[in-house]
Amino acid sequence: MSLTNFPYEGKPVAAPTSQITTKVTMPALAEMKRQGKPITALTAYDYATSRLVDEAGIDMVLVGDSLAMVVLGHDNTLAVTVDEMLHHTRAVRRAVRRALVVADMPFGSYHGTIAEGVANAVRFVKEAGAEAVKIEGPRTELVRALTASEIPVVGHLGLTPQSVHRMGGYRVQAKTAETVQQLLSEAESLAEAGAGAIVLEGVPREVAAAVTANLSIPTIGIGAGPDCDGQILVLHDILNMTFAPHAKFVRQYADVSAVIRDAVERYREDVEHRAFPTDGESYHLPVAVRLEVDTAEASGLPSIAGIHRV
Ligand code: KIV
Repeated sequence: MSLTNFPYEGKPVAAPTSQITTKVTMPALAEMKRQGKPITALTAYDYATSRLVDEAGIDMVLVGDSLAMVVLGHDNTLAVTVDEMLHHTRAVRRAVRRALVVADMPFGSYHGTIAEGVANAVRFVKEAGAEAVKIEGPRTELVRALTASEIPVVGHLGLTPQSVHRMGGYRVQAKTAETVQQLLSEAESLAEAGAGAIVLEGVPREVAAAVTANLSIPTIGIGAGPDCDGQILVLHDILNMTFAPHAKFVRQYADVSAVIRDAVERYREDVEHRAFPTDGESYHLPVAVRLEVDTAEASGLPSIAGIHRV
């Protein structure tokens, strides 16, 4: 058991680089677009990392279904379940105070009837504290129903990883005049249906720029060039925690794998060489109890079971 805790409520918070100012909401993202202020977004899947992401001033934390791959070790995003996504969303919710918390609806949770999609989305809001859900593809009718149910929606167009089998792999989308037109019209329909933002993934820069210019709601790009209203990346990618070659659009900001590997190896060596723990890292009996133990032992009484002398 670790005695580490993460005080928040009413207690001082380790100095965040960006002070908690105003809570980010879905309307606030639209306002940022109006003001030309770039929206920052990252994925996160657990308490500790999402708290760090939030304290660093990121505007939107997505509990992405990419957790299937980067946290749970699956080959693609399809296997993760609603219950697993809820579990991680709850952890993120407990950590995040400022950023908008968006939960990814996993594959299968909104591909049946509209009523099923709405019921599953309600679980993310009600049971896990999500402030919006993200769904992949041009599901205009579902976006309309979610919006009518007071659930803010982030759309996701272009390379939609839950369509990996239909796409025949992870490929850049909207590369022909026809598919560019299709993407523009899908984005317009999602916005018209009530989506609060749209993630554009794996599309040519020019296409993302055109979609962005055409919409009043923000676009958040991943592998979509610099002209989107905001950018999102997978946290494990920017930290080099994915054990796989990075896509072209990933910029690695730290080598956390190397940091963890080094720390764990040094810990193992210290234990193996009995260099950890030291006396200073050990608890000690109070002097009075220690004297009592010594006296008991000296007079031939059995020593107090389980108490080791120091
Ligand atoms: O699940 C995910 O990580 C995503 C990306 C858009 C970041 O959907």
